Amino acid sequence: MKGIILAGGNATRLRPLTKITSKQLLPVYDKPMIFYPIETLVQAGIKEILIIVAPDYAGHFLNLLGSGSDFGANFSYEVQQKPGGLSEAFIIGEKFIDGDSVTMILGDNIFDHNFSEHIKNFESGAVVFAKEVPDPERYGVIEFDENKNVLSIVEKPENPKSNYAMVGIYICDNKVSGFAKSVKPSDRGEIEITETINQYLDKKELKVEIIEGMWEDAGTFDSLLKVSNLIAEKERGVRNQ
Ligand code: G1P
Repeated sequence: MKGIILAGGNATRLRPLTKITSKQLLPVYDKPMIFYPIETLVQAGIKEILIIVAPDYAGHFLNLLGSGSDFGANFSYEVQQKPGGLSEAFIIGEKFIDGDSVTMILGDNIFDHNFSEHIKNFESGAVVFAKEVPDPERYGVIEFDENKNVLSIVEKPENPKSNYAMVGIYICDNKVSGFAKSVKPSDRGEIEITETINQYLDKKELKVEIIEGMWEDAGTFDSLLKVSNLIAEKERGVRNQ
């Protein structure tokens, strides 16, 4: 199982913070944001990790993360020239994936869930994760029937059919790069992750796991502050034990 962290994008929503560095290098309490997805992958036993960055601050990532030895991992790097969509990670990463399975995580998604078991038990198809949220229209939304079978996954629907967001970590078999290549850009000019994952759904090869616990997409000022506070509280709790 390989790992990919997608840390591209311009993060215009976080200007002026992102005028001087990349969103994924901003502090979340006491660490740069990207440390959290790195730790999520490493904790799940993934050591071979491709980090995909935007061109502007690529050197900052290299300075901070280097070879990956500090994390007991092996990092490679690729550049995403412009924000072309999440599915592009599987195209940019095709050589790196090299016919293996891959777990892709977004560089601004912060979890306290341990994905080891899901990754250990993964055989083929794709596994994605759903979390109940108050504002599903901000995300890819998963619609279920009464037996928790997935009916549809839609990117940022105006009228969401459930409160379950598809969170930013995706476990996929080696068909993923081919599927991603067949996706046409959406109205926002991106090859959407939902379209790649829907191809697994069409083939009845998609599994959705519901997760509890903390999950934040730290891409706005409010979510950045919220997740920093949550982690600070957790760390203080550990220190005071
Ligand atoms: C992206 C995905 C969306 C997913 C979200 C998780 O949204 O397109 O399906 O639910 O990440 O953070 P974006 O960050 O591009 O708005």
